[in-house]
Amino acid sequence: MAKKSYYVTTPIYYASGMVHIGNSYSTVVADVFARYHRLKKDDTFFLTGMDEHGLKIEEAAAKKGMSPQEFVDDIALKTSELWKNLKITNDDFIRTSDARHVKTVQAVFDRMLKNGDIYLGSYEGWYCTPCESFWTDTQVGENHICPDCGREVHKAHEECYFLNLKKYQQQLLDYIEAHPDFIQPETRKNEVVSFVQSGLEDLCVSRTTIKWGVPVLANPKHVVYVWIDALTNYISALGYENGDDSLYKKYWENATEIIHVVGKDILRFHAVYWPIMCMALNVPINFKVYAHGWILMKEGKMSKSKGNLVYPMDVVNRYGLDALRYYLVKEMPLGNDGLFTWERFIERFNVDLANDLGNLVSRTISMINKYFGGKIRKADKNYFSFDEELETLAKKVIEDYKHDFEAFHFQDGLDAIWSLISRANKYIDETTPWVLAKDESKQEELMDVMYHLYEVLRLVSIMITPVMEDSAKTIQEELGLNKEEVEFTALEFGRDTENTVIEKPLVLFKRLNMQEELDKINGDNK
Ligand code: ME8
Ligand code: MG
Repeated sequence: MAKKSYYVTTPIYYASGMVHIGNSYSTVVADVFARYHRLKKDDTFFLTGMDEHGLKIEEAAAKKGMSPQEFVDDIALKTSELWKNLKITNDDFIRTSDARHVKTVQAVFDRMLKNGDIYLGSYEGWYCTPCESFWTDTQVGENHICPDCGREVHKAHEECYFLNLKKYQQQLLDYIEAHPDFIQPETRKNEVVSFVQSGLEDLCVSRTTIKWGVPVLANPKHVVYVWIDALTNYISALGYENGDDSLYKKYWENATEIIHVVGKDILRFHAVYWPIMCMALNVPINFKVYAHGWILMKEGKMSKSKGNLVYPMDVVNRYGLDALRYYLVKEMPLGNDGLFTWERFIERFNVDLANDLGNLVSRTISMINKYFGGKIRKADKNYFSFDEELETLAKKVIEDYKHDFEAFHFQDGLDAIWSLISRANKYIDETTPWVLAKDESKQEELMDVMYHLYEVLRLVSIMITPVMEDSAKTIQEELGLNKEEVEFTALEFGRDTENTVIEKPLVLFKRLNMQEELDKINGDNK
């Protein structure tokens, strides 16, 4: 059987400014998915990148007295450095100003033009400059307000090329119906279906008023308008029509699974325009779209235009990378919005990381040192009914974890892992090792307890790897685990083990004082 291959992508972010923790969320969850599959030894390709064309960027560059190219080069460099700091394991970083990308976009546009899927026409409508979008009379209403950003729109008239969406409307509806998992979660799918059923208008896909973009080969006074340009990144990065297309063959045509991770704000583009482009190009629609909600601040959505941004390094510099990655994955169910507040962040840090996980690690290691000079092995048998309870739960948690991480339900997966951590903490109180330790005849019982705790930590360390690899590695080193013991295939309770733990456990997550931290944060933000 051919090896399974997985392809996961993030949106390519506008190069108009630095990404914030909202954008970072998409990148982190895509990274978790990629890391999970690599842990399973699945062949995985993970793409992220930058969306660098368009009027907003032209304007932002001009404001800084830079050329658009200089401007986006700077942002791209900083963004790719940021992803390195967040330990994002992307295999490539596509930029829409890359020559390879430009080549693909021109080829794609040209082909659709020749096939008649793109035609020249003219457009009159309400235009929102910040959003670079045309709207209809009904959409802008009496007050002529952009339905997306709420700002004023103006009448604009322009010669432009259109992508014939109408022609594919029924085909798309049929496709969505025949592929129930194409759009996830389900509630989002229904939104898309009603949008398509309400009737698609052909989409304006070029501009004559913008210079900073990919020129249309057949008519260079036009540049390709943002969405065709942007969406094409998913295949241009794989070498589609720009040279060696072996990656395209492997990760697109023959992929086991392709997932586009997107925020709900851009679902429509991915679930309507992109599949229609694929139909027009004869590119197989092998992908699924996973639309997640937004990270909200107390005042609503975090966004560049609202200026209520938290940047990922603000969090990392204070509290470490794993705390940020954990929080993002933990606080956001796939379908709904999640909240970022410092209070909540510190609370999760204290409860989940410092108390539950951190304490279990340090208590276990300390006890193994105290009672057995750091040596741990599998006991001759189970002595407590709590042993079976713990083992049964571990088995169930491993199953749930696999199921949830396959399905992109990382929050549920983390909940499952933490239910095992809590159970293990309770198990310590139930088996009272400090009492066993006083009784010479209970040494094997005591080893049995230590072994159960040790096994739980071994399993936990494997399962948290995609989310927080640094902590996972540290725990594994502290426990003295060897390589085979932390493989995905070793995700089973009851391994024979003979190891030595570190003498003094490290403090993985130091408990924070809520008020002190809030005061510091408020002080720094003044
Ligand atoms: O839309 N919460 O780029 P963009 C969660 N260039 N996710 C958020 C978020 C928040 N508050 N804010 C942003 C674009 N995101 C286009 C995409 S793709 C072919 C072109 C995430 O810089 C979310 O994934 O505005 C959203 O879809 C994306 O950032 C938008 O990033
Ligand atoms: Mg946006």
